[in-house]
Amino acid sequence: MRWETEVSADVPQVLRAATGLLAEAGVASPDTDAAALLAHAWDIDSGALNRRRLFADAVPAAVLTEFADLIGRRASRVPLQHLTGRAAFRHLELLIGPGVFVPRPETELLVTEVLQDLARHAEKRGDENEGSADVHVPFVVDLCSGSGAITLSLACEHPRLRALGVEREPAALEWSFTNLELAEVGDSVVDFVAGDATTFADDHPELCGSADAVVTNPPYVPDDARPRDPEVADHDPAPALYGGASGLEIPALIIAQAEKLLHPDGLFVMEHGEDQGAGVRDLIAATASLSGARTLPDYTGRDRFTVARRAVID
Ligand SMILES: C[S@@+](CC[C@H](N)C(=O)[O-])C[C@H]1O[C@@H](n2cnc3c(N)ncnc32)[C@H](O)[C@@H]1O
Repeated sequence: MRWETEVSADVPQVLRAATGLLAEAGVASPDTDAAALLAHAWDIDSGALNRRRLFADAVPAAVLTEFADLIGRRASRVPLQHLTGRAAFRHLELLIGPGVFVPRPETELLVTEVLQDLARHAEKRGDENEGSADVHVPFVVDLCSGSGAITLSLACEHPRLRALGVEREPAALEWSFTNLELAEVGDSVVDFVAGDATTFADDHPELCGSADAVVTNPPYVPDDARPRDPEVADHDPAPALYGGASGLEIPALIIAQAEKLLHPDGLFVMEHGEDQGAGVRDLIAATASLSGARTLPDYTGRDRFTVARRAVID
């Protein structure tokens, strides 16, 4: 279909053709992506697009030209989020692009785990009004913070905490600063710093023993494994993916740093591959003070992240 010349094409026709092209190219959710890209090219939201679909409105020529270009790039497996410049994560819409890892739905659950744990501790302490001035303000460290998805979600969804995102790659760090400017963090305080997560506690001894929670979605793909989807293999930055020969070399170093950052009874949460749960639990069991490792599933039921706790007595 030559969209550029089909000026009279209506929304359902255009979406059908685009969906077919994306499906042929192996895109996993061709109908959702086609709709998102048409809304983006038209500069409207999904509700407005649905109305125009219902009434079979004609797609203006300029929109069609822009849409054809976007569909061509999506068919060559450029990630949807790189084309729209946005990624949804929990309640946030993050700005993202080349140089930063696209946040994933499964990572959202790490945030839930931390928020629930902070709430349990607040209840134990008897902090009735978490927002009031005299209650404990939790401190959370996000090692390998990328776009800021985890750090900013925690800050936005908790009444008042201090969140520190640590990221080594300058391009990714820049995206997190942009997202911080746009986020409404309320009474929470957020910092993103350039740092190496594999040495961070050693580099910042003043922070040791101070964190209520350390959360991390580190690089964990084995160095010789090529991710199946071109969106990941060709567009997520390599430092965001590869975690060493087995995939767990970098996570192992990060576990050692998390152990030092946590205060007694603090929570550790780490994302990993679906076949790495046992490996991560072994690494945790080998530490001096982290224990009780449990691996939990993602939305699709696959083992996806492991939680543990720093022992109360050193
Ligand atoms: C899988 S991404 C996760 C990003 C973000 N937390 C998320 O969940 O969307 C891993 C991130 O760790 C960063 N990174 C890799 N090695 C690092 C290191 N040694 N120290 C700090 N950041 C690192 C990468 O640049 C990337 O942004």
